[in-house]
Amino acid sequence: MNIRKLLLAAFAYSLLSGGLAVGEINVIPRPAQIVRNIASGSIPLGTSHVIVCTDAALGRVYADTLFEWTGLRLAVHPTAATATDRPVIVVDSASRAADTHVSHPEGYALEVAADGSVRIEASARAGAFYALQTLVQLIAQDAALPVVSIHDSPRFKWRGMHLDEGRHFFGPVAVKRMIDSMALYKLNILHWHLTEDQGWRIEIKKYPKLTQIGSWRANSPTPGDRNKPDGVPYGGYYTQDEIREIVAYARQRGITIIPEIEIPGHAAAAIASYPELGNTDIESYAPKVMERWGVHPYTFAPKEKTFRFLQDVFDEVCALFPDSPYIHIGGDEAPKKQWEKSAFAQKVIRENNLKDEMELQSWFLARIEKHINARGRRIIGWDEIQEGGLSPTATMMVWRNWKWALLALEKGNDIIMTPTSHCYLDYAESIESLPDDPYYEHVDNNLTKRTPRQVPLEKIYQLEPVPEGTPPDREKQVIGCQANLWSEYLFDWNRAEYNLYPRLFAMAEVAWSPKAARDWNSFQQRLPSALRHLDQIKANYRRPDGLPARAR
Ligand code: ACM
Repeated sequence: MNIRKLLLAAFAYSLLSGGLAVGEINVIPRPAQIVRNIASGSIPLGTSHVIVCTDAALGRVYADTLFEWTGLRLAVHPTAATATDRPVIVVDSASRAADTHVSHPEGYALEVAADGSVRIEASARAGAFYALQTLVQLIAQDAALPVVSIHDSPRFKWRGMHLDEGRHFFGPVAVKRMIDSMALYKLNILHWHLTEDQGWRIEIKKYPKLTQIGSWRANSPTPGDRNKPDGVPYGGYYTQDEIREIVAYARQRGITIIPEIEIPGHAAAAIASYPELGNTDIESYAPKVMERWGVHPYTFAPKEKTFRFLQDVFDEVCALFPDSPYIHIGGDEAPKKQWEKSAFAQKVIRENNLKDEMELQSWFLARIEKHINARGRRIIGWDEIQEGGLSPTATMMVWRNWKWALLALEKGNDIIMTPTSHCYLDYAESIESLPDDPYYEHVDNNLTKRTPRQVPLEKIYQLEPVPEGTPPDREKQVIGCQANLWSEYLFDWNRAEYNLYPRLFAMAEVAWSPKAARDWNSFQQRLPSALRHLDQIKANYRRPDGLPARAR
């Protein structure tokens, strides 16, 4: 093609694609390799297309998903021989192609030929599923396929989103909406924070009071006036049937749910349900489900009764989450005041030759870890788990100081990067542009504070999960990264979506795309298409001017 034709094609394409750079495609996260044949333009997807897939269930997923996005119901054939001569979408989910992307279990190749035929190769179902997510994003704008060759696989195996349901309970419909969105953007881990001082959200058959008592609080802080109780009892929890259903729903979309049960702190709701599990020998002992945000003093007592209780709880949790190789045991923000004052806790420290309450915490966690390991699972904990000695077999989630990342890497532990500086979606994108409405209150609402906590979209986009100073041979211990949706000020799901989007898209690209493919300008060009999809599914999000896309 001569240069004039090339420029014309590029110009036509930039008009069509609403300003995308030449060679770019509207896909988040940005694929590892894209070769775009701009001169061939785009080919409309039509009912003339036939899906060819030997895996009938996968073929149905393709047909149903394409129907959802385009309204076109495409026929599915098991083999090319039975297909017609119409353009085909061939899905080969057991490809043995030597390509490094295709041979990755989550990777794929997607080729669109000039006649509109599509060839998808993946070595496993996960890769074929991700190819479908790329395909629907490609056709989202105008139900047309660009002529393109994509080879893609993830940078990290842990591409996480966390959801705190302890402070607010959103329910199955909301969680499934979040799972749908995560799948579309190739996130694969939902870290489900199910227990808190302010509410216990998971049914445990052996301990019914956890939900009868622990899932309810008498009051919550008033939106816009956090020191004033609102006078409204608040509660909710997931039944075991609901949990099993959500776990299966996530599995079908390539997502593993990692449950978190907080020990030894953030445990007031559990201790309010079964007061004998706390430090009963301290003065003014009066546990209740907490009604204010912040860190609270109630910790589990290090007694045999507590360990029996927790082992039973974790047994039920392991059974409910059969896919999860990990169980998250929390470990963060456990004040040591009650253990300092408890004669019983002090006796445990002495009898076990522990130095202090920090070592008591590690001793406490080690007992639970042993139990969880015996059930074939590994533990994850927040970075406080290294304070009294880090278990060599634990995975650590770095949220406070990056120095803990280097310490854990040096010891040989795996880590997941989720630092407050880049990954805390409870922080506003910008405090200055918040809507003038108490419903949009954030943890830091106050501009007079010198360094209010904020995570702009660009900040999360610029996260480099491998900490500076990581020795090259330790890089593989950084198994991924995650954004956290803490819910103190997320009063309902509409409000949660305002904090979630568009930052979820940035996290998806950080976690999936190779470092070299990440580009803030390119991301901004691809963003409008993702926002349009949020409009279509009637999701809320933060618009670039700070206002919500949807009224509450
Ligand atoms: C945390 O934010 N407390 C892990």
